[in-house]
Amino acid sequence: MEDLISQEPRDLGRALCIITGASKGYGRTLALQLSCLLKPRSIMLLVARTAEQLNEVKESVKALDDRQNRLVVRCVQADLEKMEGVEKTVQAAKETSPSAMDHLLLINNAGSLGDVSRLTLTFTDPTEVNRYLSLNVSAVLSLTAGVLQAFPRRLGLQRTVVNISSLCALKAFPSWVLYCTGKAARDMMFRVLAEEEPEVRVLSYAPGPLDTDMQVQARSFSGDLNLRRSFSAMFSEGQLLSCEESGAKLMKVLLDNDYPSGAHVDFYEL
Ligand SMILES: NC(=O)c1ccc[n+]([C@@H]2O[C@H](COP(=O)([O-])OP(=O)(O)OC[C@H]3O[C@@H](n4cnc5c(N)ncnc54)[C@H](OP(=O)(O)O)[C@@H]3O)[C@@H](O)[C@H]2O)c1
Repeated sequence: MEDLISQEPRDLGRALCIITGASKGYGRTLALQLSCLLKPRSIMLLVARTAEQLNEVKESVKALDDRQNRLVVRCVQADLEKMEGVEKTVQAAKETSPSAMDHLLLINNAGSLGDVSRLTLTFTDPTEVNRYLSLNVSAVLSLTAGVLQAFPRRLGLQRTVVNISSLCALKAFPSWVLYCTGKAARDMMFRVLAEEEPEVRVLSYAPGPLDTDMQVQARSFSGDLNLRRSFSAMFSEGQLLSCEESGAKLMKVLLDNDYPSGAHVDFYEL
């Protein structure tokens, strides 16, 4: 019986799937991978600032879906550092009015590394700190709250929110004060959400070191020399993960759907 169940084709239902930071890097890969797991007439919202790249991702998703033409894909050009960007994204989600949907899936992937060239004592300007936290913490809370409010609890609707996290949520990296602070805050935010909303499936997923533009910044600019060297070594020794490899594990976690809500799950633990 167990074998039979495991052989059934699996999917994430007829979903409204919102992916932030979908224009490149990990978010782009997640959009492509998720598109293959959604049931016909699902809706995907791709959110980021760069319209041209978002459209390229949209075309790639549609090309994958070509045979069935079953996905509705929309791009939302929004700067999530700004309140208007969060509001625009929530509004775009509301406008999809997906009546027969059985899964709301929000992937909070957008993020920035911040200035990693400097040590903690140089961050004397609260405006600079607030600006970082605005995209990486505040927008994640406001967007998650706005989307969950727009699609309240209803029988037959699974609601899942994913926080793309990092080892930095748990471990202090010298010269990465903004990034570590932001990731730690996001993990806690999602733990609180899981306590408050036991019916919502809440996951913080640390994807491992990914071969993206963010990694280029990490190995080029990290102020801590040891850290910079270790990121450079990971790159030159081929130890970075591809977005596809890391994303595939996240897809499995979402399909299995047996993680404790609010958990921090790391690529390397799976
Ligand atoms: N790379 C790694 O090794 C690694 C490791 C652990 C965790 N992560 C996490 O994985 C996630 C994706 O990282 P990545 O490596 O793919 O980074 P990336 O290549 O730099 O991509 C970041 C994405 O976020 C979007 N974004 C940035 N600022 C934005 C803003 N103000 N408003 C809306 N969207 C914005 C970017 O799009 P636009 O520029 O078009 O707006 C882009 O799509 C991040 O949360 C990161 O912290 C990455």
